[in-house]
Amino acid sequence: MYKKDILSADQFTREDIAAVVEKAKEMRDVVVKHGATDILKGKIMTALFYEPSSRTFGSFIAAMQRLGGGIIPLQGVVYSSVAKGESLPDTVRTFASFSDVIVLRHPTVGASHTAADATEKPVINAGDGPGEHPTQALLDLFTIIDRFGKIDGLTITLVGDLKNGRTVHSLLTLLALYKPKVVNLVSPSVLAMPPERLQKAKQAGIHVAEMDKLDDVLATTDVLYVTRVQKERFTDLDVYERVKHAYVITPETMKKLNKNAILMHPFPRVGEIETDVDSDPRAVYLTQQIPNGMYMRMALLALILTR
Ligand code: NCD
Repeated sequence: MYKKDILSADQFTREDIAAVVEKAKEMRDVVVKHGATDILKGKIMTALFYEPSSRTFGSFIAAMQRLGGGIIPLQGVVYSSVAKGESLPDTVRTFASFSDVIVLRHPTVGASHTAADATEKPVINAGDGPGEHPTQALLDLFTIIDRFGKIDGLTITLVGDLKNGRTVHSLLTLLALYKPKVVNLVSPSVLAMPPERLQKAKQAGIHVAEMDKLDDVLATTDVLYVTRVQKERFTDLDVYERVKHAYVITPETMKKLNKNAILMHPFPRVGEIETDVDSDPRAVYLTQQIPNGMYMRMALLALILTR
């Protein structure tokens, strides 16, 4: 992956994923044993964030610093680019000249491709509007593989805003590289997975089932992946109000969920999982998924920036 961009989940193979998962485990050992390392000493990462973020931004910053690298943290960049109307390519070229890698979050689908076209330096897509979020999907896969040792044969249930949720777009693409028993897509019809993404997953040969009732699949689910309804993508807020709490995970839901399952959420949550559920040992969003985000980003930065 040396000097490569990470723009889409589409670019990964099973071999790539096995390698990044191994690297992420290595990074976890480094952090647990030593807290940090200096393998990226002298390297600089620009984090260019045009959309709100806490976890993704924070975990990239922490990842780079734990690898001994430096950071240019630009958060809350006003969309009409750096407030004066600068174009994205100009901003990217500027920061590419200061740094070795650019991490970009942007509200426009495909913005990371535009950025990558503007510079020779590697660009990492940290979320492009309702498009993709490949590094989140990698950390999600890492979390699943860490728990089950595999993806093949699992029943994976994605629930919530599958239309606008970029994490599930990238995750479905990665899952389609494997042979899960079934991927259940649970949403109200207005928030269904975009047909072209669904089609691609089916063409890849995985078994996908769409439904709007969660209860029916809880007993057979191994991985329950819950998402936030993406309010910022709605043009009609009445529609948002109608669907925002279509699925809420409560202790009652957990009684029906398979006892060996895990419950995931990319966070932030805004009511989809009640806080009473957090102490359930199957809830891994706070205890594993979020820390794994930093280890995965350490792995990716190390692979991109060292030979
Ligand atoms: C997600 C995102 O930004 O797409 N958050 C994250 O990166 N962990 C999910 C969301 O905002 O709902």
